[in-house]
Amino acid sequence: AQISQAEFVKSSVKTEDCPSDGLPEFALVGRSNVGKSSLLNSLVRRKKLALISKKPGKTQCINHFRINDSWFLVDLPGYGYNLKLKFVYTPNRYAVAPKDLRTDWNKFTKDYFLNRSTLVSVFLLIDASIPAKKIDLEYASWLGQNQIFIIPSVLISFLLFVVHGSISSHVSSAVPITEEFTVIPMTLIFTKCDKRKKKKNGGKRPEENVEDFQELIREFFQAAPPWIMTSSVTNQGRDEILLHMAQLRNY
Ligand code: GTP
Ligand code: MG
Repeated sequence: AQISQAEFVKSSVKTEDCPSDGLPEFALVGRSNVGKSSLLNSLVRRKKLALISKKPGKTQCINHFRINDSWFLVDLPGYGYNLKLKFVYTPNRYAVAPKDLRTDWNKFTKDYFLNRSTLVSVFLLIDASIPAKKIDLEYASWLGQNQIFIIPSVLISFLLFVVHGSISSHVSSAVPITEEFTVIPMTLIFTKCDKRKKKKNGGKRPEENVEDFQELIREFFQAAPPWIMTSSVTNQGRDEILLHMAQLRNY
């Protein structure tokens, strides 16, 4: 499941502009500064690959990286607005968007999630070195709702199929069992697990923050999403992520 080749392909501003070769892809999403670019670089064992996509002036980009010529890693703009970022250099300039761009940002990534048919799974990155942030919970909630919606609909279709199918065969063909539903499978990636607990960060160890976060999002999900603890400093979790992605691709 190791990565032998990685190359930046393109930055897209709309879902329709994304590469159309049909390769499966995984999207990294998370708050600005959570460690998306670092994780991507750690996965591909290159220090600066994720920075290649920086396009000053572009406020919203979907960045595609082709891996082993057979699948994509996708770096999405970070959400959340951090005042401090205004005054420091950030590789992803589009993260430093004025507040009124936030709704656009949401519309833009959500459109990608809902309409990108080759998207295998969303990897939601959460900083394990600090307590849960409201914006992360909101985001997880949105992703969770989009799963909860789906499962009952699929079940209903299936039940309709079973019922009608057993009554008469010509009725079953009229039942729209192939109706499309948007399913967004999600994996939780906890970042910065190498960091030690600090009083100013809530005084909890990463393991404790991870546990708290899962408790807080439980109500949003029918089934708890898979989760992996990582660190781009120690490369903890790298092999686990690559194996998980390989399994999802072969599913
Ligand atoms: P934006 O590009 O602003 O959206 O941020 P990002 O999510 O790409 O985060 P980035 O990878 O640029 O990392 C942000 C900061 O966190 C940097 O100072 C990194 O060095 C640090 N960082 C990232 N991952 C880790 C980690 O696993 N452990 C530690 N200790 N620091 C990390
Ligand atoms: Mg980045």
